[in-house]
Amino acid sequence: MNKTMVDLVKATKIYPPDVAALEDFSLTVDKGEMVFLTGMSGAGKSTVLKLISGIEPPTKGLVEVAGKDLTKMKAKEIPAFRQQIGMAHQDFKLLPDRTVAQNIGMAMEVSYENFRAIRNRVNELLQMLKLEHKHDTQTEKLSRGEQQRVAIARAVANYPVLILADEPTGNLDPVTTELVMKLFKQYNDAGSTIIIATHDEHIFQNTTHRVLELANGRLIATRPTLQP
Ligand SMILES: Nc1ncnc2c1ncn2[C@@H]1O[C@H](COP(=O)(O)OP(=O)(O)OP(=O)(O)O)[C@@H](O)[C@H]1O
Ligand SMILES: [Mg+2]
Repeated sequence: MNKTMVDLVKATKIYPPDVAALEDFSLTVDKGEMVFLTGMSGAGKSTVLKLISGIEPPTKGLVEVAGKDLTKMKAKEIPAFRQQIGMAHQDFKLLPDRTVAQNIGMAMEVSYENFRAIRNRVNELLQMLKLEHKHDTQTEKLSRGEQQRVAIARAVANYPVLILADEPTGNLDPVTTELVMKLFKQYNDAGSTIIIATHDEHIFQNTTHRVLELANGRLIATRPTLQP
């Protein structure tokens, strides 16, 4: 069985008209790995996650995820492909006039067979992220940190094989950050591959996982993995 979950080979992304967000960027992530992407604002972290999720096509280079070459995938195949991936966007992308439960449950309608299973799963996630009391609140009425946790809950709701988290702790206090990182660890221990883009050095300073640093759309350093 192929052990690679993500393979970017010399991926370049030029946003129109001429913004080079990524240049010749290569990254291989094995199934079951957890990897941190770091680097200054504008370095290209979100772009890497957008290429992997198929939101943006590369201008050049190869993007392979779960054995599929995304550059060759037909547009109509992309929705089914995305079902396997849980993405927590940097700007959350929640439906503002829908409730917390609706935002999370909506992601599950394709893969969960009945309403009760969805309801139980939503409640479980809200409990884990300490948001039970916001179950029926429209997401536009939430604080940024609460919205962020809803985005994370939605991303992991389907037990995706690949979780992409873009600045998942950017709006959280240290206690809530720890809660979210514990959640990611649980999913990683259960087998999900996780890629986290972050400025927050605290969340990876003691990690045993790979930390890749980007600058100006290029990989500039891979921090040595600390011994477990
Ligand atoms: N849709 C777009 N159109 C044009 N330029 C873009 C677009 N998205 C990103 N860029 C540019 O591409 C570069 C990389 O952006 P990206 O969002 O990947 O960086 P980042 O490392 O995630 O930054 P941050 O830490 O601020 O989130 C930046 O120069 C940015 O301005
Ligand atoms: Mg970003």
